[in-house]
Amino acid sequence: MAKVWSKRFDNTLNPFIEKFNASIGFDRKLILEDLDCSMAHAKMLGKTQVLTSSETQQIINGLELIKVEFLEGKFVPGPPSEDIHYCIEEKLISLIGETGKKLHTGRSRNDQVGTDIRLWLRKEIDNLDRLINDLQKSIFKLAKSNIYTLIPGYTHMQRAQPLSLAHHLLAYLEMFQRDRERFQEVRSRVNTSPLGAAALAGTKIKIDRNFTAAELGFEKIYKNSIDAVSDRDFCIEFVSASALAMSHLSKISEEIILWVTDEFSFAKLTDKCATGSSLMPQKKNPDVPELIRGKTGRVYGHLQALLTMVKGVPLAYNKDFQEDKEPIFDTAETICSCVKAMTILLNEGLEFHKKNLSDSVENDFSNATDLADYLVCKNVAFRTAYQVVGEIVKHCSERKMLFKNLKIDELKKFHPEFDEDVFVNLDPFNVVQSRTSQGGTGFTQVEKEINNWQKKLLL
Ligand code: ARG
Repeated sequence: MAKVWSKRFDNTLNPFIEKFNASIGFDRKLILEDLDCSMAHAKMLGKTQVLTSSETQQIINGLELIKVEFLEGKFVPGPPSEDIHYCIEEKLISLIGETGKKLHTGRSRNDQVGTDIRLWLRKEIDNLDRLINDLQKSIFKLAKSNIYTLIPGYTHMQRAQPLSLAHHLLAYLEMFQRDRERFQEVRSRVNTSPLGAAALAGTKIKIDRNFTAAELGFEKIYKNSIDAVSDRDFCIEFVSASALAMSHLSKISEEIILWVTDEFSFAKLTDKCATGSSLMPQKKNPDVPELIRGKTGRVYGHLQALLTMVKGVPLAYNKDFQEDKEPIFDTAETICSCVKAMTILLNEGLEFHKKNLSDSVENDFSNATDLADYLVCKNVAFRTAYQVVGEIVKHCSERKMLFKNLKIDELKKFHPEFDEDVFVNLDPFNVVQSRTSQGGTGFTQVEKEINNWQKKLLL
């Protein structure tokens, strides 16, 4: 197929370079967005009378036909077209003839491709928002049914203080809420129209940028034509927000992987989301969270690729930008599939061993802070109380005992303010219940948070 620029050149492209240069292999994903963009552009040219109404109608009909043929599988974009923009233009000309050659009036592929990716990304962000909302609902469901289930809380992966399992899960709900908020901020910048910036300088053709923007649902237009065609910040912001969200998915994945080990035994995987081993008959592997954890790396990689892609690129459009597509396509696909998989895993793939969880906090020193706080409530300075309890921990661990195994007289030897009622304070359930500070794990606080989330998630 002759190139549009063939009149200017004496020779045809080297076949390898032709392939090397082409983006049709991946940007055909943008076909529907490219058609929408072209329809808006054609309508606008009709409105400003650059095209006659009959020309406009022919172009729109042609584009509609391409859409129908594509959706019916009769038209498959591909080589030898260089990219999706040429592909549609060539197809339009083959369908409606000379009038098709007028579509590209007053625009460039530079503002066109920028418009297409933004339309695509806006749709992906909306889809992702729905998926994360579903994930939040599944976390919420688990949290709501586990307000009174206890779980050890860790810092440095060492037993720290017991928690309500719901409180632990609600921490993830908060993270994913911030992710949704971040994606909304990215969306507002994605939702800005570069169309009409043309190659880089604008155009002398009578166009109406606000018309095309409104037609395509953009909230605003780029103010500077050079910036409009060179800006790929929004791609980086999308992948960056995705990388952070993936880190949250990876974090919860890692916890699930630990929880289902024999060593922890806090939960087990149901058959719906676990896989067996080809060799070891006893195995039940947590492939789903492992894959999510593993896939996080590729999203981080895409972020690095995009940041490097824009570095040192002079104004305005440069072909480097063709490299923006595969990272954002793969990022969107990866994060959407991971969010979905995690939702399924939480909905039907994980069963908590409530008894193991509660038992696990009975036999440790994670109530040591409470022993110290007991003294603090009796007016002993915290640092003194802390050191007293340090001595008691040492005393008990040397004798393989827990606080609750000590007699009150033994405790009194460490500090006279200890009284019989101290033991009630040490019970893990009471320990959790007593954390009544705002945002703490105390059951009343957790119940309040559950109510807030219930309203927020419209459940
Ligand atoms: N396929 C190109 C891309 O994805 C389209 C824009 C080409 N513009 C140009 N001036 N060569 O970036």
